[in-house]
Amino acid sequence: MTTDQSKRSFIKKSLVLGAGIPFLSSSLFSCEKADSSLNILILGGTSFLGPHQVAYALARGHKVSTFTRGKTKPTIYADLFNQVEMLVGDRVDNLSALEGRKWDVVIDNSGRAADWTKRSAELLKDNVGQYIYVSSTGVYYPHTTANVDEDFPVLYEDPLDENGNPPEKDSFGIMKAKSEVETINVMGESKATIVRPTYMKGPADRTDRFLHWPLRLSQAGEVMVPGKAEDPVQYIDVRDVAEWMIRLAESKTMGTFNAVGPQEAEGILDYVKGASEAFDQEHTFTVIDDYDFLKENGLFYTIPWIMPENDYAASALVENSRALNAGLTLRPLKDTVKDIYDWWYSEAVTEERRQNYLDGNENLMKREADILTLWKA
Ligand SMILES: NC(=O)c1ccc[n+]([C@@H]2O[C@H](COP(=O)([O-])OP(=O)(O)OC[C@H]3O[C@@H](n4cnc5c(N)ncnc54)[C@H](OP(=O)(O)O)[C@@H]3O)[C@@H](O)[C@H]2O)c1
Repeated sequence: MTTDQSKRSFIKKSLVLGAGIPFLSSSLFSCEKADSSLNILILGGTSFLGPHQVAYALARGHKVSTFTRGKTKPTIYADLFNQVEMLVGDRVDNLSALEGRKWDVVIDNSGRAADWTKRSAELLKDNVGQYIYVSSTGVYYPHTTANVDEDFPVLYEDPLDENGNPPEKDSFGIMKAKSEVETINVMGESKATIVRPTYMKGPADRTDRFLHWPLRLSQAGEVMVPGKAEDPVQYIDVRDVAEWMIRLAESKTMGTFNAVGPQEAEGILDYVKGASEAFDQEHTFTVIDDYDFLKENGLFYTIPWIMPENDYAASALVENSRALNAGLTLRPLKDTVKDIYDWWYSEAVTEERRQNYLDGNENLMKREADILTLWKA
């Protein structure tokens, strides 16, 4: 299919499918109630991970408060938020809405600086039974060692620049690592849980990084697969993280966990083939396994694939057995891919966003046919 054809078919589909289909409203969500009801405070809660936590927590019979600046509005499960106590403040300089209040557990989604975590933990430590901090496998950066588990020593300082100065702001992984330490230092190990997700994907993602495969595989034809077939990939459905975190609160499970899927090691070719099962389409797969060719064509990643070289050599080789033993469950890849596709064409996504993605440089579908022709030449 040519780029123009694919664009026309995409827009046509979005006009048909996007016309008023509600996505993930509360009526679609049901699950068994927990044995006892918790009062849960979510720092954040309205962007990507948060609404999935809210939906699952309410379905399990818990009470939920969120704490945000009131700027980010949930794009899914919006109808559920009238059951949520939505506290307003700012983690930079105004935590007053949290003062003198008690919760069973606080989930810290919105950490952006170690100091934010320190101050909210200090304020809440005598008034909550558990502090769950959402970290990231980014704490293992640079990813040069394979099969790292939660006990692997992480870095707490960025390297100095060429003039011997530290960076003005901590890099993402360092910020997360320092925030973990603040959580544990303030709360103590008996009240601290650290969850380190890898790349999360699913409905309500505000990045466009997991769109390529659902959109491409929804169409038939020859599919370009960048990378060596066995190049490792790791990813997790945001709902698997969200729901497991609520269960960690129910079971009062403390400790540090890598929230990483899939269950078994997987290469990029198997990933693409598995994702293609979401659609009833005929595909052939052409693996482009020459890194130099890929670099010449600006293809350094197609998430979840990241060229496994240098600081990313082992970014998709993180151990997940501790989390699996602690109850993390992973839904089938094809379900995630289909749900992302359905969400993308629902009213939860604006037509403007869809169009911007189509027109933007991240849309690999625009370049696929040309790169395949070059590769074969
Ligand atoms: N996406 C991934 O693949 C991935 C992977 C690993 C780890 N993580 C981590 O997962 C966590 C979850 O992210 P999310 O965006 O999905 O969470 P979320 O809880 O759904 O949304 C982030 C929240 O932070 C609030 N917020 C932002 N600045 C604030 C401030 N100054 N004061 C108070 N609230 C503030 C936002 O609301 P307002 O704007 O209204 O304030 C929003 O509700 C993050 O810590 C992220 O680093 C993500």
